[in-house]
Amino acid sequence: MVISVCIGTACHLEGSYNVIAAFQQMIEKYSLHDSVKIKAAFCMGHCTHQGVCVKIDSGEVQSVTGTTAKRFFQENVLAVLKPQN
Ligand code: FES
Repeated sequence: MVISVCIGTACHLEGSYNVIAAFQQMIEKYSLHDSVKIKAAFCMGHCTHQGVCVKIDSGEVQSVTGTTAKRFFQENVLAVLKPQN
C-alpha cells in the first residue's frame, strides 16, 4: 500500500509535514514498514480542499490534517490491513 501525501505549495502550508509525521508514527506503532510506504507527491490538483491532499494507491484524493491524520490512518489503512483492530 502506498500513501501519497501532497507536498505542493498549498498542501505544504496546510501541514503536509505534520501529516507525514503522524503517518510515520502509526507505521512505527503498528510495525507496518513492510506493507505501507509513504510517498511525497506534487500537486494533485485539489488545492481548494481544506487540509492536505492524500491518496491511497490509486484511490480518491482525500483531505487530511495533522489532527485527523491518525484517524484517517486507522480508518483507511489499519482497517484494511488489520481488520481485527
Ligand atoms: S498543492 Fe496539494 S493538491 Fe495542489
